[in-house]
Amino acid sequence: MATDKPYILAGVMGWPVAHSRSPAIHNHWIRHYGLNGSYVLLPVQPERINDAVRGLRALGFAGCNITIPHKVAAMPLVDRIDPLAARIGAINTVVAEPDGTLAGYNTDAYGYIQSLLDAQPDWRADAGPVTVLGAGGAARAILVALAERGAREIRLCNRSLDKAQALASEFGAPIRAVPWEQREEALEGCALLVNTTSLGMKGQAPLDIALDRLPRHALVSDIIYVPLETPLLAAARQRGHATVNGLGMLLNQARPAFQHWFGVMPEVTAELRRLVEATL
Ligand code: ATR
Repeated sequence: MATDKPYILAGVMGWPVAHSRSPAIHNHWIRHYGLNGSYVLLPVQPERINDAVRGLRALGFAGCNITIPHKVAAMPLVDRIDPLAARIGAINTVVAEPDGTLAGYNTDAYGYIQSLLDAQPDWRADAGPVTVLGAGGAARAILVALAERGAREIRLCNRSLDKAQALASEFGAPIRAVPWEQREEALEGCALLVNTTSLGMKGQAPLDIALDRLPRHALVSDIIYVPLETPLLAAARQRGHATVNGLGMLLNQARPAFQHWFGVMPEVTAELRRLVEATL
């Protein structure tokens, strides 16, 4: 261990959090870049999130990731919210600033876009209409990310139409709510299809959608990473679509957080992918 370097401590607050892959990712980078520090699990019950976040500085943490169920509850506990995180309405990263304050960020939008660019370096948000399935917490970061990158039309389909409508009116153009029953029509002319629902996850029913109307050039992305290939991605691959699974978003959202705490923008390498895939 490089003892001449300052010891930097970070972690992930969640409940439950034992399944988190974040320690494997960040501790790999700490080793890889020859840094001195550690990234630990911080199991925090919902009723203790206030004390836990406010206690970060006293414990000497450079900051932490915030995961389910604390991403919204932690927002009022930090001193400053990054504008992108404010727009998304959730934070996944807390940074203890040198001036003694805590800042909240959301790196999920970055992670999602970067996962598409890793798969298709010339990917563009304005290549054509986008269909987003699901209007839960995960969809918010993706909708903001796609809108910020210049998507011109986002068709947001959700089982509960009212939730899609609420997001469409909160975020405004280019998002339009589409009833769940019209999810196949929505694929007409699309350049990107994104699944943000939990359908297709291990232990859940698969997503029920025929891809016949989706143009062959469309990219199909699923933010699920267990399994790495959901039934949606398998069906898309069989039709010849390029596909992107959720592992890239998981790995890439960790990069700017690591940079905030450790001062190095780390790379997503094949070695890191293999290491995390082995835990799935
Ligand atoms: P997350 O934070 O991962 O987005 P969430 O907020 O619970 O989790 O959202 C889950 C998403 O999956 C929602 O869009 C949900 O649809 P509803 O808003 O109608 O609940 C969607 N979802 C879950 N089960 C579903 C099902 N059986 N059919 C269609 N959509 C489903």
